[in-house]
Amino acid sequence: MSEKILVIGANGQIGTELVIALRNIHGSNQVIASDIHNPNQDNNTGPFELVNVMDKDNLRHLFEKYRPTQVYLLAAILSAVGEKQPKLAWDLNMVGLIQVLDFAVEFKTAKVFWPSSIAVFGPHSPKENTPQFCIMDPNTVYGFSKLAGERWCEYYYLKYGVDVRSIRYPGLIGWKSAPGGGTTDYAVNIFHEALKKGNYESFLSAGTALPMMYMDDAIRATLSLMNAPAYKLSIRSSYNLGGISFTPAQLAEEIKKHLPDFKISYSENDPRQAIADSWPKSIDDTYAQQDWDWKPEYDLAAMTADMLTNLKNTI
Ligand code: SER
Repeated sequence: MSEKILVIGANGQIGTELVIALRNIHGSNQVIASDIHNPNQDNNTGPFELVNVMDKDNLRHLFEKYRPTQVYLLAAILSAVGEKQPKLAWDLNMVGLIQVLDFAVEFKTAKVFWPSSIAVFGPHSPKENTPQFCIMDPNTVYGFSKLAGERWCEYYYLKYGVDVRSIRYPGLIGWKSAPGGGTTDYAVNIFHEALKKGNYESFLSAGTALPMMYMDDAIRATLSLMNAPAYKLSIRSSYNLGGISFTPAQLAEEIKKHLPDFKISYSENDPRQAIADSWPKSIDDTYAQQDWDWKPEYDLAAMTADMLTNLKNTI
């Protein structure tokens, strides 16, 4: 059976790259990109629909029109923006998910993908090699909306049989798309500024280690989870996913190997520092390794080299 794949939030950091990857695999016409904003130039290569996930009728229309076999719900408000608009972040992140899960039941959508995040962990979660199951006390609205969302995903799987799959993404770094208001955004911005200006002021301190991942690995992980046989998946909330763990100082050192004059400085009192301090430094992803053979390909050196090579041509 040929797939009809609906990507909601297609203009975002993940959506932009996922639509390209899915269209390469399934053909442009099989992948419907949708977003609250007009298409960006990358996902203008096939069907596109304007959608507001909070608008139930609007969303129903999409399910009726396309009868998607797979839905990727990527529309969300991230950690830093969420702290400025907490109620909106909660509403968008929760209402959007529950409406999509309800339509997946009604329209018998074969598979749903929904992203969670390292933000589900909090100050009392173990910081190093954070395990799949541990104390989780997130203190950002984004973080606890994702944790609640994970519970809803597992609930719809157990109660209604929705084949919903999810990954707790680390901070994502890619050159094709910009991040949208998160705490890990520094690790993308630094590359742009290094190439444009030769220096960067990091809003996180020199020693703040966070789990990160190159976008190529993140897209490969997503597709491989979605392709895995259902019986192999033991986690229906969201899988821990490990990639690379590094600090702003370590990333700057790596960039200097390519751009020796690059300089980094550090700002103080940025509210994102407290968010970063509440998150893990590294992630244990044993379940992803065991259930769907997950293995990252990019380390810090490979990611930095690839980012600089590709970004250089776009700036
Ligand atoms: N990258 C996200 C953020 O910083 C974490 O999921 O908000």
